Amino acid sequence: EFECSLPRPCEFSTVDGILLQKESCDIWDRIWNFQAKPDDLIIASYPKAGTTWTQEIVDLIQNEGDVEKSRRAPIALRQPFLEWIRPTTSGIDQVKAMPSPRTMKTHLPVQLLPPSFWEKNCKIIYVARNVKDNLVSYYHFQRMNKSLPDPGSWDEYFEAFLAGKVLWGSWYDHVKGWWRKKDSHPILYLFYEEMIQDRKREIRKVMEFLGKNTKEEILDKIVYNTSFDMMKTNPMTNYTNDKKLNHAISPFMRKGIIGDWKNQFTVAQNKKFNEDYEKKMADTSLSFCMEP
Ligand code: A3P
Repeated sequence: EFECSLPRPCEFSTVDGILLQKESCDIWDRIWNFQAKPDDLIIASYPKAGTTWTQEIVDLIQNEGDVEKSRRAPIALRQPFLEWIRPTTSGIDQVKAMPSPRTMKTHLPVQLLPPSFWEKNCKIIYVARNVKDNLVSYYHFQRMNKSLPDPGSWDEYFEAFLAGKVLWGSWYDHVKGWWRKKDSHPILYLFYEEMIQDRKREIRKVMEFLGKNTKEEILDKIVYNTSFDMMKTNPMTNYTNDKKLNHAISPFMRKGIIGDWKNQFTVAQNKKFNEDYEKKMADTSLSFCMEP
């Protein structure tokens, strides 16, 4: 029962050169002046880096591995999306209505995060994914999400992404900006690829960061319940309840692997991409695994 018809009725605008949903630009003052509380936790990421995965891990940790509790509501309601505006509500209003301690998600680049989060010294978990898989995932997501612009053809989207002309701005600036920030603020910087390689180790890291006891039995339960297959069949994490998403075009829980970019990039695109990547990433110590 999807009513997906292009062109999509969504509009976009910019804040400090970063492309965002027009509605959030319209109330940018309210977002920028959002008042954080010291025990707020933010999960930050570039879109499609493994946000939902990290969110579910955090929610299960907060609920001591109790799966029933984590199935109380869709992930988007359990952890509001700070800067996103829906016709009936906004992320900031959802967060304000929550009891503490509050957990929320954001895709804002580091320089656009409301300053109150820095002032209150809130804990932040950032998750980053290798750019090629991130780009491919984003492309398929924009095809199926009618709240976002139609991505056009793969070739067009590829160029727009390289130019940083996509929502939430340049991937390169995003991952580098948050990477720099972790030197001066409590940020746990996770990598999607490391989560794939050793989920248990990465979940333990998150538990330690949150100051939770790392009882082996709870840890194992969380590992079990956050596999790709478990989350794909869990209606509270697979976004099948979101009417703006057309899973017949491409499912939200699409592939969940490292290296799917090889099925999408042409040889020429890969060459061009690598040259550009070298330049854009020359000024950072960040490095990513792009091979399965
Ligand atoms: P793919 O499109 O490559 O499959 P986000 O939550 O930031 O929107 O990221 C979505 C991406 O994370 C999708 O990538 C999705 O399949 C992947 N993902 C979600 N849960 C996962 C899990 N448990 N294991 C591996 N990948 C997962």
